[in-house]
Amino acid sequence: MTTTTIDEKVTSVAVYPPHPRLANPEGREKPWVSSMAEYKALYKESIEDPTSFWTRIANETLSWDRPFSQVSLGSLKNGDMAWFPDGRLNVAYNCVDRWASKDPNRVAFVYEADEPGQATKVTYGELLAQVCSLANVLSSFGLRKGETVAIYMPMIPEAAVAMLACARLGLVHTVVFAGFSSSSLAERVIDARARVVITADEGLRGGRPIRTKAIVDEALKTCPDVEKVLVFRRTGNESVPFNAPRDVWWHEAVAAQRPYCPPVPVSAEDPLFLLYTSGSTGKPKGVVHTSGGYLLGAGLTLKYVFDIHDGDVFCCTADIGWITGHSYVVYGPLALGATSVIFESVPTYPDASRYWRLVEEHKITQFYTAPTAIRALRRHGDDFVTRCDLSTLRVIGSVGEPINPEAWTWYNEVVGGSRCAVVDTYWQTETGSHVITPLPGATPAKPGSATFPFFGVELAILDPTTGVELQGDDVSGVLAIKRPWPSMARTIAGDHKRFLDTYLNPYPGYYFAGDGASRDADGYYWIRGRVDDVINVSGHRMSTAEVESALIGHKAVAESAVVGAPDELSGQAICAFVTLKDGFEANDVLKSELVKEVRTRIGPIATPKTLILVDDLPKTRSGKIIRRILRKVVAGEADQLGDLSTLSDPSILDVLINKVSAAL
Ligand code: PRX
Repeated sequence: MTTTTIDEKVTSVAVYPPHPRLANPEGREKPWVSSMAEYKALYKESIEDPTSFWTRIANETLSWDRPFSQVSLGSLKNGDMAWFPDGRLNVAYNCVDRWASKDPNRVAFVYEADEPGQATKVTYGELLAQVCSLANVLSSFGLRKGETVAIYMPMIPEAAVAMLACARLGLVHTVVFAGFSSSSLAERVIDARARVVITADEGLRGGRPIRTKAIVDEALKTCPDVEKVLVFRRTGNESVPFNAPRDVWWHEAVAAQRPYCPPVPVSAEDPLFLLYTSGSTGKPKGVVHTSGGYLLGAGLTLKYVFDIHDGDVFCCTADIGWITGHSYVVYGPLALGATSVIFESVPTYPDASRYWRLVEEHKITQFYTAPTAIRALRRHGDDFVTRCDLSTLRVIGSVGEPINPEAWTWYNEVVGGSRCAVVDTYWQTETGSHVITPLPGATPAKPGSATFPFFGVELAILDPTTGVELQGDDVSGVLAIKRPWPSMARTIAGDHKRFLDTYLNPYPGYYFAGDGASRDADGYYWIRGRVDDVINVSGHRMSTAEVESALIGHKAVAESAVVGAPDELSGQAICAFVTLKDGFEANDVLKSELVKEVRTRIGPIATPKTLILVDDLPKTRSGKIIRRILRKVVAGEADQLGDLSTLSDPSILDVLINKVSAAL
């Protein structure tokens, strides 16, 4: 394999054309797109004639209660974009009723519970009844269109039922990842102004119970506006706290309701959900997604990127608490009437072949996971994979962080048996669905590149300083998108100014993704990682400011600075530098207390892998911490610190470098 260097990083240029099995299937339908020429023609139409493209696609993909007469309004410059603005639809009707009325026995969800061997199935007919009964429960709480409901649940089908029940009534859901701490949950419940929380008694992961309801109770001590907590019985542990009349058991409440509830048609632009994500400040942003454009994006990308056909069984291992779970466990698959696997466990329980047994047992045809999981499973050796029959797989996907060529090659060869398409999909919470991605059957892959834009997405690489668009190939800069697309976020809940300032104002006329990127000599896109204060740990986005403020919350901490350190397994790991207040002694007990503080305030996903107590941090003369220096030092690039003229006390550098090399 030959290599070339862009941006000081090694980029693979091995090219893998689509396997003939995908482009010319025997006994199966042809892929939706089976050549680059077809991709290019459709892409060209989506850019040059968006009205006819999106009218056709939106009518083919979704069922409209009232047809739209206009495809889109507004611009990135003004931040007022809207899609299918006069169209009306109901998301739950599109995701459930359409398929339940045609084929009620079709399987909507395969639920792989934490313990192996306990899988169950939910058909579209059953799903309709469950969604309707729950929607009637929510109505009985007095909830009406436009109100927000918080969902804090394990990976069980009822989490999807809760989302769809909200959608049926035009309620806005906000799913909070059930690994977040009580204070993170409280912050989101308050910001979203939720009056109702849907949860479970406990979760189970890798055989270990999680105190889900107890965490909710702790959170709600600071959320006086929450009136009802609906509790699904997952484990049945009798000692779980229950405070009637605020708390209501799910099974009792649904038993009292009729299993039909008419869907409430909403505007395509009415919000479907808020999803909190980390930004460059300490306060998470409630990203707002709409009913029409978002659902279209989720369904359309899944159909083309994973080449979904009737009878396929799609498995995305992401948690419902992240955008990947929203778009590719729930909304995308159901918008297509496909079968989606809900995986409650972890990839190494009871051993490292759990994913692959899952593929074998449920005859999974498309599988979607994160590079971190791929890297971790690769370490366990090929045997765990090769002992399982993975012959049903056609497309295997990766999401959330750059996939290094070694992991890509292992995924392709060992998991995919060199007979599958590997799709490295680039997107974000804010984009709603894939924006840069290969199409199986069409795109020749280059390991580590997300390849080309999806339909309707017009990309640009900008000079970070001048904002000038870099033309031609073989360029590097920051990634931007030049025109609105249907599934893009419309605002941040309660803070449109922050939306404009974060995404649209930095480079007027463009959506700024926050990532560095290159376009190579063949026009392939390569994502270079975040250019802001966001770090990506195992495909989870963390704000350095959020971790810093959790640390500052501890009485011993004077100052903190958090940066991402390169990590073989998780891509990046959290590295925290802390100075102490007078009177506190630097020792290991205090260090573990500080790490615990972050876990308690945010959740285990924010655990600093390294915490270094220092006497001083590198600062400018005006007292601003120079994080760039810390980033370079933890990356082992202390010899490339660049311009140090602004550093107020250069004498601290040697101590810092020594401490880092001792700690990492
Ligand atoms: O930095 C990019 C990285 O993940 C960020 C988005 O994170 P989040 O909103 O949590 O969504 C994750 C799942 C969609 C991006 O700004 N990222 C995502 N996918 C890729 C990626 N980096 C490189 N390659 C990818 N395929």
